[in-house]
Amino acid sequence: MTTLKNMSQLGFTNLEEEVMLDDLHVQGKIPEWLSGSLIRNGPAKFDLDKQSLKHWFDGLAMLHKFSFNAGKVSYTNKFIKSNAFLKTKEKGKISFREFATDPCRSIFSKVSSMFSFDTTDNTNVNISKIDNKFIAMTETPIPIEYDPETLDTIGVLNYDDKLLGNLTTAHPHYDQNTNESFNYLTHFSRNSKYNVYSITAGKTRNLITSIEAKTPSYMHSFGLTEHYIILVEFPLLVNSLDLLLSGRPFIENFKWRPEQGTKFTLINRLDGKVAGIYSCEPFFAFHHINAFEVDNKVVIDMITYKDNNIINSLYLDVLRGNDPIDIPVSQYRRFTIGLDEGSVGYKIMHEGLELPRINYQLNTRNYNFLYAVGMSSVTSFTDRLVKIDVKTGDSVSWTEQNCQPGEPVFVPRHGAKEEDDGVILSVVLDPNSGQSFLLILDSKSFKEIARASVPHHIPFGIHGQYYGDT
Ligand SMILES: [Fe+2]
Repeated sequence: MTTLKNMSQLGFTNLEEEVMLDDLHVQGKIPEWLSGSLIRNGPAKFDLDKQSLKHWFDGLAMLHKFSFNAGKVSYTNKFIKSNAFLKTKEKGKISFREFATDPCRSIFSKVSSMFSFDTTDNTNVNISKIDNKFIAMTETPIPIEYDPETLDTIGVLNYDDKLLGNLTTAHPHYDQNTNESFNYLTHFSRNSKYNVYSITAGKTRNLITSIEAKTPSYMHSFGLTEHYIILVEFPLLVNSLDLLLSGRPFIENFKWRPEQGTKFTLINRLDGKVAGIYSCEPFFAFHHINAFEVDNKVVIDMITYKDNNIINSLYLDVLRGNDPIDIPVSQYRRFTIGLDEGSVGYKIMHEGLELPRINYQLNTRNYNFLYAVGMSSVTSFTDRLVKIDVKTGDSVSWTEQNCQPGEPVFVPRHGAKEEDDGVILSVVLDPNSGQSFLLILDSKSFKEIARASVPHHIPFGIHGQYYGDT
């Protein structure tokens, strides 16, 4: 009998070294037109001198940059020197409340912390730009600016406004037709609210609307169409006082309340008015894929789970254990809200996907191709990259034995006329060699063009972006 082994432990193991390498070893041929940088963010340190973190999302943030120039690839990686990182280095344990790990406090400091959210600036989820400054983000609204050349930490980027909020998403949306960015803040208080905002210039967040949220939902991302911002409130809900007073790690204060169902709220982008609220069966999701309007309907694509157990399956004792991995199977669902009918329904498009990406030029518009990692194995965290033809349902995959790919980032070829004309960039963990490599696929054929080897393993990252201008 074959014993199934968890091949993913290396992906949740500390990476300590920071390197700057001019010229990675490349197999294959990097396209000459590829001239820019893939910058990725993710947790890279899970075991501290005096404490181990509990959850994948708690790990200390590290940036990785792959720069392409004339067929060559350079690589740099650096920890983000946040307050959370610096305090951790000094004390050997965390000082701030992370996603699922709390600092071990004395009774006195527990009482003191009741009066503050003790927010972490461990920005390990995604990267973006505000006011042409490069920032790393997590779900506390404390973006950290970094130097895109060196990946050195510059410091917290302060907004030029007084908008209130304790929680945000690391998935801001950008509408390239209007040059607006969108996001929202959850402000926890006796009268909690979602403060939905846009940024049109500089570092000023313009409040679009405040929506009352008696028991705020944990939402990792949101939807955007030409006319609407879409909040999808899953029934993973928190009582704000619990969050303040419980002393428990952040996510443990949220309770799964399926009887509440899931609530779609359409907010008019222009005047902030709620255009409609639509309820459906309970489900949970991290990631919206895309949303668009067609024929008086709003279409919202998401990677969904039947409940919040996906969060529990990402605790490090599960992911690093010796047992086969048991991660709930996701569904790629297409929700359609009939604005005339006033109802929401869905169909299942595909299963077992996560970290979805599209050609972001098609954001807010009908699109044809989805790229994602496949998560259908019990022996590895991820096991393939998948391209889905959304219209036909056809799919193609890239796999290699035991190799575990990360989020596939689509880069359009210069002058491309077709949606899928470009390359896919993905950092792949290879437990056979104990190292990672950057994989470059032709996004049309989904065949490998080249790979560039990194001299160490890169722990499983979360999100990254490609910048043609660095
Ligand atoms: Fe995410």
